[in-house]
Amino acid sequence: MTTADPSVVLPERPLALVTGASSGLGKAIAQRLTADGYGVILVARRAEVLQEIAKELPGAHVAAVDLLAPDGPAKLAAAVDALGGKLKVLVNNAGIGGRGTFADIGVEGYKRVFALNFDAQLRATEALLPALRAASPSSVLIVSSVSGKIARPKAGAYSASKFALNGWADALRAEEAAHGVHVGTILPGFIATEGFPQAELLAKRATRWLVGEPSQVADAAAYLIRTRRPERHAPAPWRIATVAVALAPRLVARLISRPEMVPSATE
Ligand SMILES: NC(=O)c1ccc[n+]([C@@H]2O[C@H](COP(=O)([O-])OP(=O)(O)OC[C@H]3O[C@@H](n4cnc5c(N)ncnc54)[C@H](OP(=O)(O)O)[C@@H]3O)[C@@H](O)[C@H]2O)c1
Repeated sequence: MTTADPSVVLPERPLALVTGASSGLGKAIAQRLTADGYGVILVARRAEVLQEIAKELPGAHVAAVDLLAPDGPAKLAAAVDALGGKLKVLVNNAGIGGRGTFADIGVEGYKRVFALNFDAQLRATEALLPALRAASPSSVLIVSSVSGKIARPKAGAYSASKFALNGWADALRAEEAAHGVHVGTILPGFIATEGFPQAELLAKRATRWLVGEPSQVADAAAYLIRTRRPERHAPAPWRIATVAVALAPRLVARLISRPEMVPSATE
């Protein structure tokens, strides 16, 4: 692990750890938490990219870790221990799309998506829970998706992993309340990033407005930490869609089967 600016470190800045901080939503959340006064441990595989991002973030630290590696969680815990062993905020953000019908990608395709989107979040949280409890009141943020409430064709593996996250988050929230660890679920809608370019939606004026900004997800993260509420859609109006799926499931099923709503093979 390296420290971007060794002169600006603990104890002035409480520690936050963000996975998937080398691009997209994780990078935006890390920037926002730094602006809010945290010293952020940036986690992803690409060390050089993280180093470049850390140069702009006072008090940031870099931990180049593959979350799928057997020793990934232990490396996260070691990074936190080296900085005092108390973690105020964990943002479980790293994730992939993994598109295809069930007939195309099969069980192995589902397992590949679950390994990062679900298992890695549990493994990171297990390793860091002692540090979160030691720093209580603290927060775990779980980056899920609107796809964790509404499943689209060719995104079954992704949706299943996010539905699973939502169930785990609800249980963990109830379990950890007594220990002062808040659990907040972020449900982003469509946001254009490296891994999720949203090319089909951006290509048409009729659907371009559906695509939001990473900063809106960072705002949701800051909101959940501040208010300790259970969940937040990002942008917030996506809540209407997840309420609609409960009230009018057949209408929503028709809408999500439209060609522009089906994710491309690149996501
Ligand atoms: N963008 C959207 O529309 C959208 C909507 C809803 C939910 N989300 C969720 O938001 C989260 C972030 O997505 P994003 O849009 O920001 O995607 P992104 O730009 O592709 O970022 C994914 C991040 O995960 C990291 N990562 C991938 N595999 C990893 C591994 N094995 N170990 C450690 N880090 C790994 C990547 O860094 P390295 O390659 O450097 O490792 C990268 O920083 C995901 O959970 C996604 O499901 C996104």
